[in-house]
Amino acid sequence: MAKKKVSKAVFPAAGLGTRFLPATKASPKEMLPIVDKPMIQYAVEEAQACKINEYIVITGKSKRAIEDHFDIAWELEENLKSKGKQVILDEIQQLSQHQFAYIRQGLPLGLGHAILCAKPFVKDEPFAVILSDDIIDPDDNLLKDMIKIHNKHQATVLALQKVPMSEIHRYGVIAGKEVGKNLFRISDMVEKPKQSAAPSDMAIIGRYILTPDIFTILEKTPPGKGGEIQLTDAIKTMLKKKPVYGFLFEGNRYDGGDKVGYLQATVELALKNPGVKEQFKKYLVSRMPSIIEKEK
Ligand code: G1P
Repeated sequence: MAKKKVSKAVFPAAGLGTRFLPATKASPKEMLPIVDKPMIQYAVEEAQACKINEYIVITGKSKRAIEDHFDIAWELEENLKSKGKQVILDEIQQLSQHQFAYIRQGLPLGLGHAILCAKPFVKDEPFAVILSDDIIDPDDNLLKDMIKIHNKHQATVLALQKVPMSEIHRYGVIAGKEVGKNLFRISDMVEKPKQSAAPSDMAIIGRYILTPDIFTILEKTPPGKGGEIQLTDAIKTMLKKKPVYGFLFEGNRYDGGDKVGYLQATVELALKNPGVKEQFKKYLVSRMPSIIEKEK
């Protein structure tokens, strides 16, 4: 059978964003800005950098702003044109150049169920899943490296990161054997285990390359942790039949679903943003001594 390229990405975005209330009462968590771009735009740009050109967003209530963000904004574009603001106009127009599909996940039945909603669009191809609240430094090549591994092994590939054991209960956690540099053949997985039950300190982070047989498995996966259909449980079923790999990421990732992680991402990405970095650095340097002094 001819090998199929990874050309589609699924962005689950139906969550309620309760950790960011009240900011997320009427606006999607995925639209919270990091410096000057919403979180989901970083995720889409990551897919674009891998030549993925079809985007499937799984949405829910109060998520229409995501559709508007990636749509043509005729009035705004005319306005920018008339004022000669070409640079920002180009940037805005770039956002609506790609093919997006939106699927509503009516009920909060879990990440596994959200992925299953994408089945009619993904069909019989390998695809990427990007959780936009896991922010990967745009200078890192995580997704590109994962696609390379997928192309070589024609298998499902998960992104992993070592996390402190005190935080392990927030993640899917794997057990596995290192079979290459930072490459693990996974032998077991547990969704959000207690520290004492975690098989390692290697957490799954929000990037997956999945083979399409995941859909038939998801259809038969019963609710797991938290009464939700868990992607982790479905991949665990898959690995009993065929190899599943984990790629240990050593670059920078920020947990944009957590307030402190979100603030860290903001600081770090501001320090890379040509428009603000010099001024912002000066501010931080001038503020630091008094913060350190107060902490003593
Ligand atoms: C999801 C997955 C979990 C994974 C995490 C990464 O959990 O279920 O296995 O470790 O994403 O961010 P969530 O954070 O959506 O609860």
